[in-house]
Amino acid sequence: MDLSVRIGPLTLRNPIIAASGCFGYGVEYAEVVDLASLGGIAVKGLFLTEREGHPPPRIVETPAGMLNAIGLQGIGVRRFIDEKLPELRARGATVIVNICGSTIDEYAELARVLSDAEGVGALELNISCPNIKEGGITFGCSLNGTFGVVSAVRKVTRLPLFPKLTPNVTDIAPFARAAEDAGADAVSLVNTFLAMAIDVETRRPKISNVVGGLSGPAIRPIAVRMVYECRRAVKIPIVGMGGITDARDAVEFMIAGASAVQVGTANFVDPFIWPKLLEGLREYMQRHQIARVTDLVGTVETGETKEWRNGVMG
Ligand SMILES: Cc1cc2nc3c(=O)[nH]c(=O)nc-3n(C[C@H](O)[C@H](O)[C@H](O)COP(=O)(O)O)c2cc1C
Repeated sequence: MDLSVRIGPLTLRNPIIAASGCFGYGVEYAEVVDLASLGGIAVKGLFLTEREGHPPPRIVETPAGMLNAIGLQGIGVRRFIDEKLPELRARGATVIVNICGSTIDEYAELARVLSDAEGVGALELNISCPNIKEGGITFGCSLNGTFGVVSAVRKVTRLPLFPKLTPNVTDIAPFARAAEDAGADAVSLVNTFLAMAIDVETRRPKISNVVGGLSGPAIRPIAVRMVYECRRAVKIPIVGMGGITDARDAVEFMIAGASAVQVGTANFVDPFIWPKLLEGLREYMQRHQIARVTDLVGTVETGETKEWRNGVMG
């Protein structure tokens, strides 16, 4: 059984990746998870410098999901390279570094610094964090912004580039196309959905940032739809995510068009989920006599025509 997948120039041993912000810098989980058994680890979003993030409360449980506004707390890229990357390398992890900036120059500088570091498998450009005021989602919500930041980073690095798209737009497909046109090797989608929860006793927002990003099973059908739409719009691979809790969910994303998937919130519920995901994927492939996991990608049978979609939906 062949579980390996290619995401642009990067080959992953399997399609299951730990999602950014939900798996620390990877090393924190080394005692419970064999880091080399994962397809990849997308580490917590990094800026050039350290950041404290927002004050607590920063997360709250919601029906079938969670709301967070961490505010991209992090140790900064240089400490990551010095303190975390060597251990990730030693443990055989495939490292995807999630990078964030307030300006295009910051993204480009991060890409330059990480290009010189040993053991970086790919860069995931976080242009979709809903929880910071400056940068980030400002680029991800504008087609020109997306094109601009991706092409600027493309010019300074040979590392595989995966811009991470926001679902907080009316139509996500043109954003995937803008990323592809700018030289992205793949697109990751989706980041969290802007959302809000209020304590009705105090009438105060449940998190300090007032609004935050919704993740978990609540968002899965929307994320699957977005992967499906992007699959039809671009040729580059898609890394899909949003509410995956078991192997069947992962398979659903792959059938919709994702070449690999990321799992975030589910790791908070069950940090021992990783071998179960891989075992479940193998079991599915065996039962459906699929020799290569890539044979699943984009195989959804809708039987639909364009006319049907435009005319009858809703
Ligand atoms: C607590 C938390 C922190 C996150 N931090 C980041 C981050 O630093 N960078 C990023 O691109 N996405 C971040 N995300 C988004 C996840 O990587 C993922 O896109 C989203 O949660 C949907 O997947 P899930 O439903 O499996 O969690 C974060 C999500 C959560 C819940």
